[in-house]
Amino acid sequence: MAYINENFLKLQHRYLFAEIAKRVAAYKAENPQADIIRLGIGDVTQPLAPAVVEAMHRAVDECANGETFRGYGPEHGYNFLIEAIIAHDFEPRGVHLTPDEVFISDGAKSDTGNIGDILSSANVIGVTDPVYPVYVDTNTMGGRDIRYIPCNEANGFTGDIPAEKLDVVYLCFPNNPTGAVITREGLQRWVDYALRNDCLILYDAAYEAFISDAAIPHSIYEIEGAKQCAIEFRSFSKTAGFTGVRCGYTIIPNELKVNSLSGERVALNGIWDRRQCSKFNGASYISQRGAEAVFSAEGQKQIRATIDYYMANARIIRQSLQGFGLQVFGGENAPYIWVRTPNGTDSWSFFDRLLREAQVVTTPGAGFGAAGEGYIRITAFGTHKSSIEAMDRVKKCL
Ligand code: MLT
Repeated sequence: MAYINENFLKLQHRYLFAEIAKRVAAYKAENPQADIIRLGIGDVTQPLAPAVVEAMHRAVDECANGETFRGYGPEHGYNFLIEAIIAHDFEPRGVHLTPDEVFISDGAKSDTGNIGDILSSANVIGVTDPVYPVYVDTNTMGGRDIRYIPCNEANGFTGDIPAEKLDVVYLCFPNNPTGAVITREGLQRWVDYALRNDCLILYDAAYEAFISDAAIPHSIYEIEGAKQCAIEFRSFSKTAGFTGVRCGYTIIPNELKVNSLSGERVALNGIWDRRQCSKFNGASYISQRGAEAVFSAEGQKQIRATIDYYMANARIIRQSLQGFGLQVFGGENAPYIWVRTPNGTDSWSFFDRLLREAQVVTTPGAGFGAAGEGYIRITAFGTHKSSIEAMDRVKKCL
């Protein structure tokens, strides 16, 4: 007889963004003429940079030729991409990595969830609240106990260091959903906590490219001691428009070790490598060539222009909402704007109101956890035109 993994029965009925998509589809079915502006799920609107497109075309041509065709790639990813990542994203910040510490993947979402495969189901997991739902859902699937670390206006949405000993803590900065960033000192406090308590930090840096303030760290490895306690996840999705193409990477330093039941210290790098070899066949050669082109001089110029474009949207959204008298957070070093709902309206009601009265899709804060109640999240990934139009419509329904 087959049995279900009971942990799946503990999940909320639908993944947050699937629930939103369902509500929007139902509204659209009732109102086929509605001109809906989607500032909910952080899907990008700007096309791939020309340098990326050219590189991917070349890669397709190589695969069309028997002499240059590529089949299965190396499990860690191609060296051309790994070396570009190290040289561009880490060396200039004084972070020295060896190629075997970088694992190319199909994105940070899958890696932040899949990493649970190599961690005991007995680990107690800490997540900041509000939280990117993937961390909660995948650890619920894995049968782990989850503790919530409240992030609020009082602590700048960065969470206070917990009094209890947690085994694993997920951190995400710049934060999804609040758009909060963490200072070097703030991040050092988390690293010190992890080192003191033999805790593993899972650091999601998917939005680091949106940081413009030079004082804000891009990588946790800029912090002393982090290589002994942290894994870092990165993504090309929002940085370079890869939400559909799929490519990201995960750093597992060689010196990072955790306990086995027999009391041995085991290096996670080798265990993740073992997992990837059995369960993953890599991001496609074509995606990896596209990702490599992000680091070319042309690619850098082009993706910078796109990030600036999104951050101009963030400014429009922030300033407009502030002008309407709303309390607004984030959106300065992050593409997410976190907005207090007016007059204490609950977040799903405000989401529904904006959908029905303004035809603007947002994300209700409560979907990210209890501490998200009373907020909504708006993304800066629309177009200038849609961001301005959305603000005009929101104003009318306040
Ligand atoms: C979001 O809207 O939170 C993200 O786009 C979702 C994701 O990256 O998976």
